[in-house]
Amino acid sequence: MNKDLLLYEKSQPGRRTLRLGRLDVPAADLSALPAGALRRTPPDLPELGELELVRHYVRLSKKNVSIADSFYPLGSCTMKYNPVLNEAATAIPGFNAIHPLQDSGRVQGALAVMKRVADALAAVTGLPGVTLHPAAGAQGELTALLVAHRHFVETGQKQRKMVLIPDSAHGTNPASASIAGLQAVEVASGPDGLVDLDDLAAKLGEDTAVFMITNPSTLGLFETKIAKISEMVHAAGGLVYMDGANLNAILGVARPADFGVDMMHINLHKTFSTPHGGGGPGAGPICVTQELERYLPSPRVVEEEGGLRLDYDTPYSIGMLRGWAGNFGVLLRAYCYIRRLGAEGLLRVAQNAVLNANYLRVKLRGAFHVPYDRMCMHEFVCNTKNQREQGIHAVDVAKRLIDLGHHPMTIYFPLVVSEAMMIEPTETEAKETLDAFVADMLLIAEEAKHEPEKLHAAPVTTPVGRLDEGRAVKDPVLCYTCSH
Ligand SMILES: Cc1ncc(COP(=O)(O)O)c(C=O)c1O
Repeated sequence: MNKDLLLYEKSQPGRRTLRLGRLDVPAADLSALPAGALRRTPPDLPELGELELVRHYVRLSKKNVSIADSFYPLGSCTMKYNPVLNEAATAIPGFNAIHPLQDSGRVQGALAVMKRVADALAAVTGLPGVTLHPAAGAQGELTALLVAHRHFVETGQKQRKMVLIPDSAHGTNPASASIAGLQAVEVASGPDGLVDLDDLAAKLGEDTAVFMITNPSTLGLFETKIAKISEMVHAAGGLVYMDGANLNAILGVARPADFGVDMMHINLHKTFSTPHGGGGPGAGPICVTQELERYLPSPRVVEEEGGLRLDYDTPYSIGMLRGWAGNFGVLLRAYCYIRRLGAEGLLRVAQNAVLNANYLRVKLRGAFHVPYDRMCMHEFVCNTKNQREQGIHAVDVAKRLIDLGHHPMTIYFPLVVSEAMMIEPTETEAKETLDAFVADMLLIAEEAKHEPEKLHAAPVTTPVGRLDEGRAVKDPVLCYTCSH
């Protein structure tokens, strides 16, 4: 928020108020603030009627494609389901009008929500130490690697600096390793898309800190040898980190601690219906073994006689990674989802996620090449190998989907599959929606054969056609008052 909005003192005899836009909020004592920090005149804010404001936001929303418009088969890390009921909970004043510095005696309800979310995550992962601090999955990765590093320093093994990462991993994994001051080392995948155990064995050693594995992987495959892999990593003295972005595929079916995982992050926006937040402000809590718990960021919610409080007395903690103890509004949304579904409903999440992905894989495999064509988890990867002769690329299929009213799938990721099209329907889509998508994908496959120019020209139904995407990233035209 613009700080101009915050520090405007409205002088009225005998009463001091903070003026927040047009809302007068009785304030406590402002005398502690330096006189120079207080406004003498009101900020020059635009005066708008409700209708103008509503029209402005509706106009903006119409420019965006969202889950409210159409199916969103984007793969990797994107749940896309943000139930309206979650928003209602966050509007409750007892939740949205509190401050992290309030005395814990006055925010017991909020602390209870945080504690219950942490307990639920510990239950589904089997890992008892939970921090709710990280603002995104990537920040969870960084947090866990800092925790691992602190553990190795404390146990006299600070030479352990290598982070082994499979080649199918999300780019945030090696990035987190390097931000943590560690070194990323790539581990090859075998022809089955799973970790090549010989390559892993050759790279494990006294310098191994962590093996960082995404399970199920970004290829949508469950790492069937995960227990053996964990054994190998532990035998070499390393820790197993699981990128839990894809936890929705195994929720309530398998607990990562049971197959040897020591630490993991959970993308609440992927598994527990919260908004993604573009890398934050979202939430990517991490769960760790009891042995690693004391290194987690501070503060954490603890229970003691008389209630809950935030505990700052944490001498081994890596410290604070971000302000306060977590992104409360996001945690609250996850809590609503967890409570609405219960243990049985959470298990159905995994079952439906896997069923829906396999339904699409089987329906599409005749038309598009599926490099790892076997039972998949929450997503699968296909490509345009069958359309190569017509000069059709993944981007052409994706753009044509826009004309047919669907959001495109993720393309060109994971990097280990050329012309990758990564499709994730998610657990929350109906069969009718999946069938409509299949029909359009099959139509595109036919068009690729007979009218390839139609795919090359797509999209034709959007205000702008094909963009120079490289340039759009480097030289964006950002204009918030545009009416076109
Ligand atoms: C496998 C995987 N790991 C990590 C991340 C990072 O998560 P976030 O976007 O919350 O930082 C993502 C998603 O972007 C992902 O797909």
